[in-house]
Amino acid sequence: MPTSEILQRIERLRRERSAVILAHNYQVGEVQDLADFVGDSLGLSRQAAATDADVIVFCGVHFMAETAAILSPHKTVLLPDPHAGCPMADMLEVEELRRLKALHPAAAVVAYVNSTAAVKAEVDVCCTSANAIEVCRSLDADEILFVPDKWLGTWVARHVDKKLHLASGYCPTHAWITPQDVLATKAQYPEAAVIAHPECSTEVVDLADMVLSTSGMVGAVKARPETAFIVCTEEGMLHRLGKEAPEKTFVTPSSHCVCPNMKLITAEKVLWSLQDLEPRITVDPEIADRARGAIERMVNTLDGSPT
Ligand code: 13P
Ligand code: SF4
Repeated sequence: MPTSEILQRIERLRRERSAVILAHNYQVGEVQDLADFVGDSLGLSRQAAATDADVIVFCGVHFMAETAAILSPHKTVLLPDPHAGCPMADMLEVEELRRLKALHPAAAVVAYVNSTAAVKAEVDVCCTSANAIEVCRSLDADEILFVPDKWLGTWVARHVDKKLHLASGYCPTHAWITPQDVLATKAQYPEAAVIAHPECSTEVVDLADMVLSTSGMVGAVKARPETAFIVCTEEGMLHRLGKEAPEKTFVTPSSHCVCPNMKLITAEKVLWSLQDLEPRITVDPEIADRARGAIERMVNTLDGSPT
C-alpha cells in the first residue's frame, strides 16, 4: 500500500477510534511525523496520564506502553509491534530486586522507568533520565538503591549527596558508543558540541558538553550557539533534532547507535493496530495498583536539567 494511503487510513481511524498516537524520539521518521505527540519517556508518560482519548497507540517499547496502561487502566493501550521490548528493562527480575533490597534495607528504592511493571510495583518511586537527579534529591533517605541502569545511576550519584547502590543493568544500544567513537567524530567536527544521554558509559559522559534526556537535547540544541552537534544516543534523535533546528548539523558518533526494538514500529503497523485494536498491552490489576503510586510520583516530579 502506498504511504499516502496508509497515512490517510490512519487519519480516518484515529478520529473514528478517538485515538491518540504517542511516539518516542527514537522512532523512525515516518512514525514521528504521523504522531500527535513526540517526546521523551517523561513527556510521553505525562501525555498518557492526561489524554482524554479512548485509545492510546504507543509507538515506543513495551515498558512505555505498560506505563501508559498503568496510568490509564480504563483505556485501550496498543503497542503496534508486541516484540518491541527493552533489553535493559529485562535485565532486572523481581527476585533480583528483592535480593538487592534485602542487602540494603535502609535504602529508598528508585526504578528508572525502563523497567518492568513487576519491578515498579516493588519500588518507592520511578524516574526518567529527565528527572532522575531531582527525584533522588527529593527523597528523605541517606541511601538509595537505584535500578536497573548502572550508567544513569553513576551519573545521578555524581549529583546527589546520598549513597547510591546500583544494579548492573545497561542499555546495549548506548553501550555501543565508545569514547574512541566520540573522539574520532570530534576530530572530524572540531567545532561541534557533544551531547550525551546519561545511559552512555561514564567514559562517554565525561567527553560530553551536556548530558541530557532526549527531549532535553531538543531544548539544548536550540539554545546553544554551536551549529553542529555530536549526538551520543539512538539515531532516531537526528530526525527530531533536524526538524526542530533545521539550520544545524547533527551526527552520531557511530553507525551502531540503533535500538532495534524502537525500529520495529512502522506506519503500516500503526495502521494495523488501529484497525484491529491489537496488540493490546494490559497489566495485572494487582501489580498495576502497586506500581501506580511510584509512576505518579515520577510524573509529578518536575524535570530539572541534569547539571
Ligand atoms: P528518554 O526518556 O531520555 O527519552 O530516554 C528513553 C530511553 O529509552 C533511552 O534509551
Ligand atoms: Fe531500551 Fe536502550 Fe532501546 Fe532505550 S535505547 S529502549 S534503553 S534498549
